[in-house]
Amino acid sequence: MYHIEKNTVQETLIIPLFGRKVCSEHFPHLFKDPEAERICSMLDYDFAEKGKKMESAVGLFGALEVAQRQYDLAWEVKDYLKSHPNAAVVNLGCGLDDTFRKCDNGTCKGYNIDMPDVITVRNELLPAVDREKNLAYDLNDERWMDEIDSSHGAVFFASGVFYYFKTEAVRELFQKMAKKFSGGVVVFDSCNQRGAKMMTKTWLKEAGISDVNALFSVEDKSEIEAWSNDFAAVNARSYMRGYRDIYNEVSFFHKLMIKFCDRLVKMQIIKVTFK
Ligand SMILES: C[S@@+](CC[C@H](N)C(=O)[O-])C[C@H]1O[C@@H](n2cnc3c(N)ncnc32)[C@H](O)[C@@H]1O
Repeated sequence: MYHIEKNTVQETLIIPLFGRKVCSEHFPHLFKDPEAERICSMLDYDFAEKGKKMESAVGLFGALEVAQRQYDLAWEVKDYLKSHPNAAVVNLGCGLDDTFRKCDNGTCKGYNIDMPDVITVRNELLPAVDREKNLAYDLNDERWMDEIDSSHGAVFFASGVFYYFKTEAVRELFQKMAKKFSGGVVVFDSCNQRGAKMMTKTWLKEAGISDVNALFSVEDKSEIEAWSNDFAAVNARSYMRGYRDIYNEVSFFHKLMIKFCDRLVKMQIIKVTFK
């Protein structure tokens, strides 16, 4: 069993992992993630409280969100690999997410980056396989970039990660990445400031984060377009409907939540393509 420390940013990796497990149980026709179930069963973590919260209608919507965003980001990775089959597939703030393996075409290279204590747990539960590396870095320490072999292209993705970053830090990160990884793309999930505030009330508080105003949020993709001349394009799609539209598959309440998230919280998947 592997212990996860409470009240840390690292603990936040439990939410999407557990969400994917719950989603598999409740919506097996939409998502099936036996790996998330296996990993949860190997963690020394008290899931009882989170379990209770996630069984509510709102909690189940959260589970749908995390499963859906993994689907969306995996879609983007697979799409990039069609034109760059040997590319680097880089999971920024990977937690215990195994998207690389879900997208592996047999020739690409996978890199999973997270804080050292997370990587220690990951090395036990999801040890790197062929063409895969688990890298222990703070993403704000740009030395991680030197570890990536981008000679055949690079697709970066971050799932549930930049909510913990200051806007300035994300901007600097993308500017540096655009210079270093020409022709690459970075894809991530985002919401607007209203969404960020809602999040602090729930899980960011548990991670000891309270000053949400400085944190990264996006109302409109044009905010990111203005960041750098090294961006070729910035695209945005609805998180819940933009890749696989599950609107007609869910309950009336969840339909309302989808509309709310699209219109008022601006839950989007954003893709930045570097020149
Ligand atoms: C909500 S979890 C998401 C985990 C994973 N992407 C998923 O979807 O299951 C956020 C992750 O980002 C990592 N993280 C946050 N800030 C980071 C930083 N500055 N450098 C590296 N990892 C970071 C945390 O350790 C945590 O594993």
